[in-house]
Amino acid sequence: MGFSAFAQASTVFLHHDGIRPLPRTINKWRRHSLAPSVLHLGGLKLSKQEIVRDDPTNNVPDNIFWKLGLQLHRRDHHPLGILKNAIYDYFDANYPNEFEKFDDLCPIVSTKQNFDDVLVPADHVSRSYNDTYYVDAQTVLRCHTSAHQAELLRSGKTRFLVTGDVYRRDSIDSTHYPVFHQMEGVRVFTKDDWEGSGVDATTYAAEDLKKCLEGLARHLFGGVEMRWIDTYFPFTNPSFELEIYFQEKWLEVLGCGVTEQEILKRSDRVDNVAWAFGLGLERLAMVLFDIPDIRLFWSNDERFTSQFAKGQLGMKFKPFSKYPPCYKDMSFWISDSFTENNLCELVRGIAGDLAEEVCLIDNFTNKKGMTSHCYRIAYRSMERSLTDEEINELQWKVREQVQSKLNVVLR
Ligand code: PHE
Repeated sequence: MGFSAFAQASTVFLHHDGIRPLPRTINKWRRHSLAPSVLHLGGLKLSKQEIVRDDPTNNVPDNIFWKLGLQLHRRDHHPLGILKNAIYDYFDANYPNEFEKFDDLCPIVSTKQNFDDVLVPADHVSRSYNDTYYVDAQTVLRCHTSAHQAELLRSGKTRFLVTGDVYRRDSIDSTHYPVFHQMEGVRVFTKDDWEGSGVDATTYAAEDLKKCLEGLARHLFGGVEMRWIDTYFPFTNPSFELEIYFQEKWLEVLGCGVTEQEILKRSDRVDNVAWAFGLGLERLAMVLFDIPDIRLFWSNDERFTSQFAKGQLGMKFKPFSKYPPCYKDMSFWISDSFTENNLCELVRGIAGDLAEEVCLIDNFTNKKGMTSHCYRIAYRSMERSLTDEEINELQWKVREQVQSKLNVVLR
């Protein structure tokens, strides 16, 4: 769901001293007795029953709960941690002591933080249960690091980088995974900055933004060709995407823009102008390290993990072996409530990271107005060969649950 193409009240959870009380709802939960599976997040203990509940306002599955708190971006020997540190190096070299860094903010945020504070319209698709993981009606797993912008601004920060895990319900293929990582950057200017520059405040911020990010792209990719594309985000105006020409393709690297005045106004910064950017770490790391499948970031296989070292940006990953995929097709009559994201989540719930791709290969509506979909599921392990037996068992479970949970009729 990107905010360009389609696409939290509560209590402030970041104090100046970096202590983070969670949203009120979660504080309430803390008083409950904790069951065995307990998660430690930013000094807090949360039980699985608090995050995964059988309740219509909750759509967080088990497998997502287990990703909370893993914080791949904080591992210095992991490609995502190496990339984060390389971006930090760029900012430290070019803006010494300017940008404050946060990489441990709690991913459980209010809908106010995730949406309202950054002016996401009430009817925006990103707010739907089909796109976002809700813990309850007012609490979500952040779907972007922009969820922290407003609060940090309100707490008086004017230059900061926020890195974190973000969560989105989505399709299954080699570049999409329901948890990924983003880095957000924000820089605020005052009149002193733009006065005397000969341009207005917005132009000044936009030019500074572009210069900063072009420099970052060169720092990461070397002397590449770049282009700016106008786009739309609810929280910036004007808004841009940066693309770089890499390996014979234009690759979208990040989204950014001049912060909407309304956001600054609400944090008592009426006489300021600011820019913000958000970039996806996996997308960049896949290109920089030649990582062919997004599931690999989650692998504990030493043949993956041993290929990366702290501070070594751009070491090229050598696939240890490519095991054969196994394809299974499944056709059913859909109902009005059917969505591909629900199907994909069900498949991941059963097959986990063995699900490589779920692809709609046939779609038709008969004379009676019934619509049939045929999906092809590719099963493949990154680490070993799968047996027929094992795949058949997975596929049977998928067929069973598709009928019982998705309200469709298998053909
Ligand atoms: N939050 C946007 C996204 O996830 C990226 C972005 C951040 C764009 C900041 C502009 C400014 O797609």
